Amino acid sequence: MASQTILQGSVLSFTGTPFEGEPGDAVQVHEAVVVSGQHIAALGDLEQLQAAYPEADVVHHGNKVIIAGFVDAHVHYPQTAMIASWGKRLIDWLNTYTFPEEMKFADRAYADDIAGRYLDLTAAHGTTTMCSFATIHPESVDAFFSAAQARGQRVVTGKTCMDRNAPEGLRDTAQSAYDQSKALLQRWHGVDRLEYAITPRFSPTSTPDQLEAMGALWAEHPDCLMQTHLSEQTDEIEWVRGLFPDARDYLDTYEAFGLLGGRGLYGHAIHLELRERDQLREHGAALVHCPTSNTFIGSGLFDMAGLMAEGQRIGLATDTGGGSSFSMLRTMAAAYEVGQLRGVPLHAAQLLWLATVGSARSLRMDDKIGNLAPGMEADLIVLDLASTPAISQRSAVADDLWEAVFPTIMMGDDRAIAEVWINGQRR
Ligand code: GUN
Ligand code: ZN
Repeated sequence: MASQTILQGSVLSFTGTPFEGEPGDAVQVHEAVVVSGQHIAALGDLEQLQAAYPEADVVHHGNKVIIAGFVDAHVHYPQTAMIASWGKRLIDWLNTYTFPEEMKFADRAYADDIAGRYLDLTAAHGTTTMCSFATIHPESVDAFFSAAQARGQRVVTGKTCMDRNAPEGLRDTAQSAYDQSKALLQRWHGVDRLEYAITPRFSPTSTPDQLEAMGALWAEHPDCLMQTHLSEQTDEIEWVRGLFPDARDYLDTYEAFGLLGGRGLYGHAIHLELRERDQLREHGAALVHCPTSNTFIGSGLFDMAGLMAEGQRIGLATDTGGGSSFSMLRTMAAAYEVGQLRGVPLHAAQLLWLATVGSARSLRMDDKIGNLAPGMEADLIVLDLASTPAISQRSAVADDLWEAVFPTIMMGDDRAIAEVWINGQRR
């Protein structure tokens, strides 16, 4: 029989969306959760669960919060070692810091080292699934999938394709991008908990021929995700206009080549035209909000309230290392701050939903991860709401659960992550 553990705490389970009605009403709080093998078996009252699962070990977490592991919908694991690089905006930041670092991933040993480091760091921060860009090098995809497979993690990555406007050594061609992506997809997609994402970096670094090849590959493998960047900075949008004079807008540079779809993930999506918003929504494509990156690189303020109200599919992400943190707590805090600058404060339940269910929905994995419910995969975290003196003195005088959780969202870091369970195993 599979090993069984009952975890006691304030177990949060989303039963609806906190963006409709009273946000807190979307959450049910249980006394305990049962992990059986690699899945969640049940949620409920502690005594009843103990009676129903008499063989199970019981772990008491007092008033700590138990929630699904965080899901980071857009990261660049190869940028781990250059996170927090100073003083540049997008294009200069890519040329000065990012491309030289990504060059190092031609070396498989370096890629293995960073992939392991990245997965250890993020697990310590409570992130159990992420959708990552790799580099141009097929080895960088092998390194990441191998490291995640060894840890039993559900992750997504893909070879980042670029055939122009990148330095020698970081360019492929339309044909080699197609061939290498296809070979990697065939090797990894659907193996254990691993999924492949077709990954053209963004329109400025792909020729129309390469975008067409990526679109053709996606049409052959429609069950794969496709990830890229969209309308992050105004200079970038101007550049795209010059490179694609016939395109109606930035999104059209993807749409024209078959790169707009419901399994598409569009990072940043800040400066969108009305037509782009309509098309993204109609296709059920995912917009990924990267708030620490958008403030760090100076990109702009994502329109969370407006986009949510019009029914867009939205995920939340660190965008490591354009983002300035590995922590989804810090990322939720930044999303809150961006919301405030736009006049719409996000509720704690909305922030937690974005970091779990919302991101899982954007990856089309919300039937497996991102929430605690019977049958879901057992990726979960235990949050300590008193992890530092500063947080502790604030949560101690909270009147309800949300007021107790919010200081940890705003001020918490890896010290707030008391336990991490991945695939039914305690890390
Ligand atoms: N646009 C194209 N590549 C990147 C990247 O690596 N990071 C960010 N933030 N934006 C990009
Ligand atoms: Zn990115």
